[in-house]
Amino acid sequence: RTGNVTYDPGFANTASTKSAITFIDGDAGILRFRGYPIEQLAKQSTFLETAYLVIYGELPSAQQLSEWEDRIRRKTMLDERMREFFRMFPRRSHPMPVLASGLMMLSTFSFDSLNDTPEGIEKATERLLAKVPTLAAYGYKNSRGEAMLYPDNSLSYIENFLRMSFGYPTEPYEFNDEITRALDVLLILHADHEQNCSSSTVRLIGSSGANIYASIAGGVNALSGPLHGGANQAVLEMLEAIRASGISVKDYVQQVKDKKAGIKLMGFGHRIYKNYDPRAAIIKQHADAVLRLKEGRRDLLNLATELEQTALEDPYFQERKLYPNVDFYSGLIYEAMGFPKEMFTVLFAIGRLPGWIAQWREMRADPGRKIGRPRQVYVGEPERAYVPIEDRT
Ligand code: SDX
Repeated sequence: RTGNVTYDPGFANTASTKSAITFIDGDAGILRFRGYPIEQLAKQSTFLETAYLVIYGELPSAQQLSEWEDRIRRKTMLDERMREFFRMFPRRSHPMPVLASGLMMLSTFSFDSLNDTPEGIEKATERLLAKVPTLAAYGYKNSRGEAMLYPDNSLSYIENFLRMSFGYPTEPYEFNDEITRALDVLLILHADHEQNCSSSTVRLIGSSGANIYASIAGGVNALSGPLHGGANQAVLEMLEAIRASGISVKDYVQQVKDKKAGIKLMGFGHRIYKNYDPRAAIIKQHADAVLRLKEGRRDLLNLATELEQTALEDPYFQERKLYPNVDFYSGLIYEAMGFPKEMFTVLFAIGRLPGWIAQWREMRADPGRKIGRPRQVYVGEPERAYVPIEDRT
């Protein structure tokens, strides 16, 4: 202890925030949004309905949902001048910095939703949900030098995003219901996750009075780290590296246990879940269905399954309560859908957007809100006198 501050290396596990949005029991592997179990939402809800629930706290009536979907559908276009914005990026830009800077650019076109009035916050909420998939799809299209398609209001939220990502102006886009539903479910699973690194970042930035676009751009940057949202891309790179090296799963797991070159079993372990991440179990159910569409990648699914089994049976992982997390299988499905691995964390961001919005709104609505100001434990030099440069060695 130093003064009135206690150092806790697991600081992220100390309760610092009250929230009514998401409940997690890491030991039991339970996840609920506003009291509804994730398993039921994944089976019966849609991403936009779950976004409504996470943000407003209740499931919408049929009329509320239809009006919500319609308001969002009508906001999916970007200001025409933003199309030039994408062309400034080098072809091979990673889409995460493009998304983060796209949000900042979006805020300059959204001056009437930068304030804290109820109208401003509602406008920003709907604009973000509507325009982030368009920003993501345009960033992807630009990285391929392909035409950016306007949104199509006759399509659902998910279909619109898939067509803007993979469609061409020269021909109609062929939808696959299995892929559309799998993406809807994946986005539901990512919708919130209490005080994870990126959501805490959104709250911290917003606590200074910064607007919601700037706060969420910060969340996007926090999510990009390989220990957080960037893990889904890192899992695929790990599987491809294992396959390319020809090393056996057993030998790779041994390297992880020996902490060789700091490698970790990406997609495994969690700050809170010391049991199987309930989202990973649901994602795995969809993996088989979607990967049937891309036979060539089933070898990676088989490799991932073998890796999972080997680790789950190994005392090293059992003692440390390391289980697959949400990122372990999600990348395999995204890739089978046609997304390159650079887009996986962008998809995570689209899914997490309702949670970031809900948590920012909850923080801002708290009348007792104070600016975030974490303390530290000082472990540096005690007081000492200045040494003139001529007296220094
Ligand atoms: C997400 O917080 C959230 O909710 C995040 C998230 C969300 O929805 O927002 O769920 C999304 O970020 C999921 C996590 C994705 N990241 C990865 O898959 C990267 C690989 N995982 C690890 O980096 C790690 O498990 C963390 C960062 C996720 C969690 O780390 P912890 O709980 O802080 O555990 P730790 O780093 O203190 O490790 C404890 C022990 C150590 O061994 P010892 O020092 O005791 O010998 O477990 C080992 C670690 O070396 N360990 C791993 C490991 N994770 C922890 N060993 C091998 N492979 C791993 N993946």
